[in-house]
Amino acid sequence: MSTKITKVGVLTSGGDAPGMNAAIRAVVRACAYNELSCVGIFRGYQGLIEGDFEDLDARSVKNIINRGGTFLKSARSKDFRTVEGRQKAYENLKKAEIDALVVIGGDGTFTGASVFKGEHDFPIVGLPGTIDNDINGTDYTIGYDTALNTVVEAIDKIRDTANSHNRLFLVEVMGRNAGDIALNAGIGAGAEEILIPEEDMGRTRLLESLRRSKKSGKTSSIIVVAEGDQIGKNIFDLAKYIEENMSAYEVRVTVLGHIQRGGAPSCYDRVLASRLGVGAIDALMSGQQDVMVGIANRKIVYVPFARAISGQNEIDVELIRVADITSV
Ligand code: F6P
Repeated sequence: MSTKITKVGVLTSGGDAPGMNAAIRAVVRACAYNELSCVGIFRGYQGLIEGDFEDLDARSVKNIINRGGTFLKSARSKDFRTVEGRQKAYENLKKAEIDALVVIGGDGTFTGASVFKGEHDFPIVGLPGTIDNDINGTDYTIGYDTALNTVVEAIDKIRDTANSHNRLFLVEVMGRNAGDIALNAGIGAGAEEILIPEEDMGRTRLLESLRRSKKSGKTSSIIVVAEGDQIGKNIFDLAKYIEENMSAYEVRVTVLGHIQRGGAPSCYDRVLASRLGVGAIDALMSGQQDVMVGIANRKIVYVPFARAISGQNEIDVELIRVADITSV
């Protein structure tokens, strides 16, 4: 289907991420620039089903580029997983005369968009907004850089107290299926060990490695654990295991949790979100749909949803090597 677009709906869905406001702002302003109408849809796909819409113009998005969260709110909609829910959403779009959608979110958001597009042949473009950085076809997702900085700042503080007490800290970071936050923040914060879902280290190897670093003269240690890691899934259980097998250390656990999703977006995320938002309207105006706007080698790219949501997250093995060498 390729009809002239005149009115664009924008929504944020799934887990929020710093920079989503900057992305909405860019979409709204790119619409204004190109003389298209823009409608904000609240609470993601749930608001689409419930008709929770509000007209947005260039001034509606003033003073939000610097704000964390998403002023359109977000949700993980169960109703949108049903045929009836998606039918209701389609009817609301037709009623509001919206002829294209920009959805900002992660793989769940794009999966929903793909299914919807398959049923209703409705033009949709996606922007990758998730702290996890786990979307295929884009080097970075909106919110990831800010989350990394939040984690590094937190671990720097934990290191102070770990060092004062000669303790070992397990720090759990987000990433159900993806180790990007753990690996990159771990390197940035100088962690001794980094446990990620993509690579099962095994408890025995972890102990051996900790013993080696203790022997080399280290008096405290930081282990960064991605929440989806195999041996770190129950982080308190892992702490108990280490303490029982390594009397040299007192072990403490910090779960960083949703602090990683909040806060003012970094400059990198604001610029990325602005570029991707403009890219979304460029895509729709040139007749593209069913694609995610991403960034690869510093250039804007258009990636079919099917590719963006396919396969496992791939980790850069070079980073694992760097982590191993620099933590010796
Ligand atoms: O996908 C983003 C994310 O923050 C994951 O890292 C985390 O596992 C999940 O969302 C938490 O989801 P919720 O906020 O719904 O508990």
